[in-house]
Amino acid sequence: MAFRLLLALAALAASAAAADLDWWQTAVYYQIYPRSFKDSDGDGVGDLNGITSKLEHLKDAGVTATWLSPIFKSPMADFGYDIADFYNIDPLFGSNEDFFALKARADELGLKVLLDFVPNHSSNESEWFTKSIQRIDPYTDYYVWEDGVPNADDPSKRDPPNNWISNFGGSAWAWNEERGQFFLHQFGLGQPDLNYRSPALVEEMKNVLRFWLDRGIDGFRVDAVPFLFENATLADEPRSYDPSALPTDEKYLKHIYTQNLPETMDMLTQWRAVLDEYTAKDGETRVMLAEVYAPLLTTFEYFGTQEKPGAHLPFNFQFIQYLTNSSSAQDLVDLALQWQNGIPSWATSNWVVGNHDNHRAASRYGRELVDGLNMLVLLLPGVAVTYNGEEIGMEDAFISWSQSVDPMGLNAGPDRYQLFSRDPERTPFQWDDSKNAGFSDADTTWLPVNSDYKALNLKSEEGVAHSHYTTYQHLTTARKLPAVQRGALDIQALGDVVAFSRTLEGEQTVVVLVNWGADSLTVDASVLAGAQGELTVLIPSDNASYAEGDVVEASSIKMGPKDGLVLTSA
Ligand code: GLC
Ligand code: MG
Repeated sequence: MAFRLLLALAALAASAAAADLDWWQTAVYYQIYPRSFKDSDGDGVGDLNGITSKLEHLKDAGVTATWLSPIFKSPMADFGYDIADFYNIDPLFGSNEDFFALKARADELGLKVLLDFVPNHSSNESEWFTKSIQRIDPYTDYYVWEDGVPNADDPSKRDPPNNWISNFGGSAWAWNEERGQFFLHQFGLGQPDLNYRSPALVEEMKNVLRFWLDRGIDGFRVDAVPFLFENATLADEPRSYDPSALPTDEKYLKHIYTQNLPETMDMLTQWRAVLDEYTAKDGETRVMLAEVYAPLLTTFEYFGTQEKPGAHLPFNFQFIQYLTNSSSAQDLVDLALQWQNGIPSWATSNWVVGNHDNHRAASRYGRELVDGLNMLVLLLPGVAVTYNGEEIGMEDAFISWSQSVDPMGLNAGPDRYQLFSRDPERTPFQWDDSKNAGFSDADTTWLPVNSDYKALNLKSEEGVAHSHYTTYQHLTTARKLPAVQRGALDIQALGDVVAFSRTLEGEQTVVVLVNWGADSLTVDASVLAGAQGELTVLIPSDNASYAEGDVVEASSIKMGPKDGLVLTSA
């Protein structure tokens, strides 16, 4: 009943809200990890035709845009984040034509498609790298080459130029015998860093953007942004004194010379200018999402200024970086406010709890909080980002050492791989309870399917009155309410409850309550702006004490442990 009401309201609201907000500001961005979404050809690895065949799921879930992790030609040392040819799709995923077919289907469904732009490095199997080794121009300086220093014991040998450490562990420098120099790799050995001090390289990477923009792409997620430039003096980085870091761990050093240089911020504004040229031509915004793990104030710098904008949306990794399973409701509220109050007044906010580099939210905070987390991500101001599987509450899988494939895990060795491996959050999407969860016909899949798939899968949650998926669908619909699209935020911790309201003059107030704690309680939500008197339950979580349509007194709302509730004023 209440949900029918909501739908009617949302339909009314959609046209009004659309008037002053652009598509990218109200979007739900759904991250697809192509290897794990849907395998169409039975080789155990997801592919583009698989994605195309499942695009209706995105529509059904109520998401409006998707970004695909890299699908370009790659030896897959880092599963596509090591690109050998930026202009062509890897045959494992399909052909360029398959991609255009995917895009055409997305257009039919009204879904925007973003690609992953990986500018910091290429694969060592790129033709650019081969030619750079051979000093063939213009590729000679496409990478960061250094002579290094003579080895103290044996001066005929050379040591790396400094102490810089790779994100995947060990020295960030590797010797290339043929060129007789070290090359920099801030990630894996197979991912030599591109040299942004080479004007030819800078132009080449802009051409990569143009190539895909010319083919109708709606924008990019930009990978590993902080790492584009390094300090030219090659000075050693100081110790971080992080007690958990071994001398070969990336965390061992403070990255003052290898991350977030002013030149890096500037490069983002240059790419934004390329996108804006396309936007100016037809009025359709091409959007830039930026992956930045950095201290908050540094992250904000990637918005640029209104005159010289950078990314539309540097991802908000506050929850991913700092919210743990021992955080309190107050901690969560503080993290949300630091972000929300800190971003430029003209910027659009965004909310993220998971991606292919971090353990699944359902596993980090507990499966009981799946609905509550989706309520936060989808109803806080601005843009929502969903990692594939979050809409059904997918969890980390246990991946043994012998099943492990992620280089970050493998480099750490059998004793420490679980601290680093990203395999657990990358397992195949759980479509149904058939073989391989409906992901693939193959006998083995590239990563095993999570053993919980028989019970936890999309099919079992579809059309069910209370399931994570149904809740998710209701939440994407509720996003269309005017107060959710444009309303002010009042967020508070009321004891163990994360509580917020969204208020907009002349419109229904939307109230969201998530019991972050382990106990049943009664909460007084009437302290929130616009939340006085009677409220109607719009969306209860899976196990909530109320049903849709129940009318409750704001000052006395009962909640079970981990319950979530979305309510509206009369
Ligand atoms: C980003 C990607 C990650 C990849 C790294 C190197 O952090 O999200 O998956 O390993 O960049 O490209
Ligand atoms: Mg396949």
